[in-house]
Amino acid sequence: MIVFDQVTKQFPLGNTALQDISFEIEDNDFVFLVGPSGAGKTTILRLIMHEYAPSSGSIMVNDLDISANNFRKLEKLRKNLGVIFQDFKILTDKNVFENIALSLRVLNMSTGYIKNEVNEVLELVGIPDKKFLFPAQLSAGELQRVAIARAIIGDRNIILADEPTGNLDPKTSWEIMRIFKKLEKKKTIIIATHNSDIVNSMKKRVLIMQSGELKKDTRKGGYDL
Ligand SMILES: Nc1ncnc2c1ncn2[C@@H]1O[C@H](COP(=O)(O)OP(=O)(O)O)[C@@H](O)[C@H]1O
Ligand SMILES: [Mg+2]
Repeated sequence: MIVFDQVTKQFPLGNTALQDISFEIEDNDFVFLVGPSGAGKTTILRLIMHEYAPSSGSIMVNDLDISANNFRKLEKLRKNLGVIFQDFKILTDKNVFENIALSLRVLNMSTGYIKNEVNEVLELVGIPDKKFLFPAQLSAGELQRVAIARAIIGDRNIILADEPTGNLDPKTSWEIMRIFKKLEKKKTIIIATHNSDIVNSMKKRVLIMQSGELKKDTRKGGYDL
């Protein structure tokens, strides 16, 4: 579960990215985070990852109070989080297998376990045949599949995606959304997006942000206020 309680985030130069935001996201919920550029979507995701600390208010992720001054369990938090970015962030000098395996290698998992897990997630994202290719040999859609595989491997239960279809054409965007749909009810999924077609037709929970404020929180919602 993720709980934001009256969270405000100000940056040093004085601009307020989030103003008094409160919401709860149950385990295995599927949530779209929408709103225009600068609304505060990425800031919310970075707060959940503990890349930023809130200026005030509290944030719980699973059983961790990540806003506490003495919060030290970053490794435990990150083990449960998978993150996907618009620009994929795939390492160009490593093949698909290595890119995905890396997130388990840093957790000191055994080679056999890693091989099994990588094969399983490659199957799930639909590119088992691309395992030994390098990023330069892949399309944008395939690169995003690699990024999703990397994010979900190792039983992470919270998936954060920041504009995951931002660099993809409409058809590929839908293919990527179908992968997120496969994960539905198995993981908590939070997708920040501008893609109103996808948000409107998927009928999931929608949090609408505007100028750092949470304007609307609806089940089976749409993109518009
Ligand atoms: N590291 C930062 N330093 C200063 N201001 C920031 C920083 N990150 C975001 N902001 C500001 O916070 C606001 C919200 O940004 P962001 O969360 O990136 O919005 P979105 O992802 O919805 O486009 C914007 O006004 C942005 O300029
Ligand atoms: Mg953003």
